[in-house]
Amino acid sequence: MDERLLTGALQDDESVPEVTLRPRALDEFVGQAKLKETLGVFIQAARKRREPLDHVLLFGPPGLGKTTLAHIVAREMGAQIRVTAGPVLEKAGDVAALLTNLAPGDVLFVDEIHRIPPAVEEILYPALEDGKLDLVIGTGPAARTVELRLPPFTLVGATTRAGLLSQPLTARFGITHRLDYYDPDALRTIVLRSADILGCPIEGDGATEIASRSRGTPRIANRLLRRVRDFVEVAGDSSISLEAARRSLDRLEVDQHGLDELDRRILSTIVERFGGGPVGLSALAHSIGEDKGTLEDLYEPFLLQSGFLARTPKGRVATALAYRHLGLTPKGGAAGLLFG
Ligand SMILES: Nc1ncnc2c1ncn2[C@@H]1O[C@H](COP(=O)(O)OP(=O)(O)OP(=O)(O)O)[C@@H](O)[C@H]1O
Ligand SMILES: [Mg+2]
Repeated sequence: MDERLLTGALQDDESVPEVTLRPRALDEFVGQAKLKETLGVFIQAARKRREPLDHVLLFGPPGLGKTTLAHIVAREMGAQIRVTAGPVLEKAGDVAALLTNLAPGDVLFVDEIHRIPPAVEEILYPALEDGKLDLVIGTGPAARTVELRLPPFTLVGATTRAGLLSQPLTARFGITHRLDYYDPDALRTIVLRSADILGCPIEGDGATEIASRSRGTPRIANRLLRRVRDFVEVAGDSSISLEAARRSLDRLEVDQHGLDELDRRILSTIVERFGGGPVGLSALAHSIGEDKGTLEDLYEPFLLQSGFLARTPKGRVATALAYRHLGLTPKGGAAGLLFG
């Protein structure tokens, strides 16, 4: 399987413009009830006061709807959205140019905000806090600082790694939300909604099956739905039944827990090569031949959250659940003692 079906990573069918599965309004956004409710209130209040919304920081694993929400915020505020990303903002001048070009009320979406270089980050502080930029003009003894007022705007920042964001930056967001993995009911609703948009007949059980193997992630649910649809269409079936969904997902090597080949390889490597752990992330990444960041961002969060993996001060440990999933008996050692 060359295409990674299960990573939340972005290279996916969403770039196909013909149909978009992305919800455009807050009430189309499925799940995350608490977030939706509070954000809804803040948006309503800001609109009433005819002020831009306070700055919003969204964090959580890939594919849970951060970018989607940024666009929804802009739309609900009746504002224009400008999109950029942390790694692109290399110099303080880049940010200054961006900020001074905003129209009043604009939403500036900064994806991967944890990757803004520290020097650039600093010029954001006064911009976020007081709506001004302190520009240094000239060098040496003749240098002076000019204060520039900015149009009122809303920064929406997104990150998969809240831990990497500096404290002073985090503190300047008035609204901070963590997106959590979706429960199976919400994912099922997403699958049904997407099938409807795609014009693809699906049975309730079929949707439940796809939802339960989607790792709590809408992007993965949509991707699995598209792939299952391919199998079903080629097989000449009239709709996605439970049986058809199971058959297709098995062929895609997505197991009942939503783990794919690489997830299983991670677990079996810890068990077979590192005696169940603890093993450091770098050693693990090296022996699997994967990039460390990919492991940490895309694979580990779900394995941790669903109880296959545990983090200890000495490294990652395979849990008893992981042993059972691989068809092995948990041995003594850390994993057995802690999670047996
Ligand atoms: N709450 C939701 N309801 C319905 N569909 C959703 C929801 N959240 C996300 N999606 C779908 O999942 C896809 C991925 O969401 P999005 O691109 O917003 O994730 P992200 O958190 O920005 O991911 P990344 O961290 O990789 O940038 C969207 O295109 C959309 O189709
Ligand atoms: Mg995104």
